[in-house]
Amino acid sequence: MTTHHETTRLAATPPLGWNSWNAFSCEVTESDIRAAADALVDTGLREAGYEYIVVDDCWMAAETDSEGRLQPSAEFPNGMAALADYVHDRGLKFGLYTSAGTETCQGYPASLGREQLHAEQFAEWGVDYLKYDNCGDHRGRDAIDRYTAMGEALESVDRKIVYSICEWGQNRPWEWGRNVGGHCWRATDDLVAKWRADPDEFGLGVADVLDRMAAIDAAAHGPGGWNDPDMLQIGTGPNSGQSEHEPVDVQRPLTKAERRTHLAFWCLLAAPLMIGADLTSLSTFDRELLTNERLLAIDQDPLGIQGTPDQRGDDAEVWSKRLADGGAAVAFHNRGDAGREISTHVSAVDMAAGADRYRVCDCWTGTEWETGGSLAMTVEPRDTAIVRVTPK
Ligand code: GLA
Repeated sequence: MTTHHETTRLAATPPLGWNSWNAFSCEVTESDIRAAADALVDTGLREAGYEYIVVDDCWMAAETDSEGRLQPSAEFPNGMAALADYVHDRGLKFGLYTSAGTETCQGYPASLGREQLHAEQFAEWGVDYLKYDNCGDHRGRDAIDRYTAMGEALESVDRKIVYSICEWGQNRPWEWGRNVGGHCWRATDDLVAKWRADPDEFGLGVADVLDRMAAIDAAAHGPGGWNDPDMLQIGTGPNSGQSEHEPVDVQRPLTKAERRTHLAFWCLLAAPLMIGADLTSLSTFDRELLTNERLLAIDQDPLGIQGTPDQRGDDAEVWSKRLADGGAAVAFHNRGDAGREISTHVSAVDMAAGADRYRVCDCWTGTEWETGGSLAMTVEPRDTAIVRVTPK
């Protein structure tokens, strides 16, 4: 008999959840993870659809056991199976991190050459999601070979585990991530809490990532496999967990306009939404942003299309994507220094125009109106208006 579990497609829509790295970096503890799971429930984020709690780098002890198995560090005194149980008991799913090299990015033991052993551990512990990074010595093996090895190991174990490839876009993972069993693959370097980063600084800002995503092939992106522009920097910075890499004062929290732009575009891109903030101190603004059901419906639209630019180049940008109901999501983004009106027409965006009338809904406010085809929004600097357009 086929069970529901076996027939449910993993990552049929982009995974939603929380990841420890930006908030806790290498200082992460078991109690931080428990608190994050509790907070995901208490803030209403679980109810909104966020379900994965992912422990990033530094959960493992400095030494493996004599067989090469990963062991939890002293900061996880009850072990990973108990922590997975705690997360599962709250109706959530549990994720862990390791790397496709000899070491993680912070120098802990990793999984190259021990993929099967580690996949079996993860399955025994009750892991539902694996983030597989690209640090450590690769021992001369190319990315496809290394990521295939873990993909096959995860496929072989008796547990459904979302496979999140974190190869930073170095070897065009959008071309092979799906074939090696990946459910999402990082398309860029690390996103940090900045609008733009200087080329000599660590990480990328939101605008830098958008520029890259505009150029990345989305042919393989869709149900079961997603281009990943990295964690959400909403509620992160200046203490956003990148202090391993640079002084914390280089970063600042994104402004409200920048945060709206960040979420609007990650949803338009149908990106995995992994919250980076400390959930125990989330502001009301950030909580309301992250639980906006009109935005999340665009991210989770069953067609799974990655939005693309219709109009770029000057400071007024229009991006759009088709939705399963025959309509489209349309984003109006202002890269300039002054507020301005940005306009387009249904015939110029990614939808089958041809209806006489369209219903338009402003995804920030919920305000609705009708149009015969013209669309125009007033947008403040670095902000984004995003509407849902539906043929009547
Ligand atoms: C890399 C990854 C990050 C994070 C850190 C952890 O930089 O891209 O997302 O996992 O490693 O060390």
